[in-house]
Amino acid sequence: MIKGKKILLGVTGSIAAYKAVLVVRLLIKAGAEVKIIMTKGANDFVTPLTFSTLSKNKVSVDLFEEGTWANHVELGRWADVFLIAPATANTLAKMAHGICDNLLQATYLSAACPIIIAPAMDEEMWHHQATQQNIDCLRDRSHQIIPVNNGELASGIFGEGRMAEPEDIVQYLHFFFENKNTLTGKNVLITAGPTYENIDPVRFIGNHSTGKMGIAIAEEMWARGAEVTLVLGPSQEKVNAKINTIRITSAEEMYQTCMNHFDQNDYIIMAAAVADYTPATKEKQKIKKSEDSMHLDLVKTKDILMEAGRKKTPQQILVGFALETENENQFAKEKMKKKNTDFMVLNSLNDSGAGFGHATNKITIFEKDGQVHEFPLKSKKEVAVDIINLITSNENI
Ligand code: CTP
Repeated sequence: MIKGKKILLGVTGSIAAYKAVLVVRLLIKAGAEVKIIMTKGANDFVTPLTFSTLSKNKVSVDLFEEGTWANHVELGRWADVFLIAPATANTLAKMAHGICDNLLQATYLSAACPIIIAPAMDEEMWHHQATQQNIDCLRDRSHQIIPVNNGELASGIFGEGRMAEPEDIVQYLHFFFENKNTLTGKNVLITAGPTYENIDPVRFIGNHSTGKMGIAIAEEMWARGAEVTLVLGPSQEKVNAKINTIRITSAEEMYQTCMNHFDQNDYIIMAAAVADYTPATKEKQKIKKSEDSMHLDLVKTKDILMEAGRKKTPQQILVGFALETENENQFAKEKMKKKNTDFMVLNSLNDSGAGFGHATNKITIFEKDGQVHEFPLKSKKEVAVDIINLITSNENI
């Protein structure tokens, strides 16, 4: 899939620049055409000669070279994708703020192609609010961020911030080209996050769901060309601004919104942690403290997935999630049958690194026909890819 693709690689001033050499080698081996832009900082780590020898193309560094102007517009138009690897904290900041003080930045600002970024820096820099805000900003522009690794950093400290390995970056590009536009024309409805059930004006019943998993699925579906409607409960997570996100609070609001959008969707993926019960009455005024104990009268919420299972046509693919703490496989299979889903994605809270709040997840997917697919612990983005690859491989739709 990489064969014949035109890849523009931006290399910035990080020790990880040496890994970019291997990225070029692997891309060339896979049949890509590669052109490289380096920042002056990158020159301190690797020489342009290394890159030009491997890519068989001239490497550009300056906006003005030997008295002539380097045509950054042309480079941006030439590329099928602009990969920036490694991207330092400094480059991320400049990209986020539109600063144009070198050839790489000028090319970024004029590029018409998709942008993929592989950040690299020390852990503190990676976790700094400024860097994270810049990353959010770049994500909002629909740029793809290749997750950083956990491992030994240039400082000698172990932590997050290491650039993804060259093989993984090339694999990422491979998936990018393979999956691009494969879901064009498809409509997808996704639920994510918790729901909050009001008790009175200041209190609610909720759960620890962050919405990360459902958002990752929504973003991956969107990246593959689908028209995505995300029905999102109260969540602090950022969502790509190009996704049609409908923010709701309660289970009832999520139910109504899903039912209003149900018919026009090809895939319905219910990743939300919906409250099963809601207070029978929502007090208008704050409940005052009085007795030593109190009782809340709760009533069942509508089961959105169950209703979706009743309504769905044979052409619609319905995916449910099951979060379990015991008898996981049995409960997940029973849920799939009861709610008439085509797939059931099981998370077990017994697996470390899986479930609410983690950046990672470990899932097992059950299919209606009895097949079971187990996956190792992965980032939620990679888990989203696994789920989507499986549910879209069904040929009925
Ligand atoms: N679900 C839903 N509406 C509800 C409750 C759950 O759509 N009112 C969906 C969830 O989005 C998920 C699936 O049902 O896809 C399973 O949710 P889960 O809470 O694991 O199961 P429940 O059916 O609520 O059963 P229990 O809580 O007893 O395990």
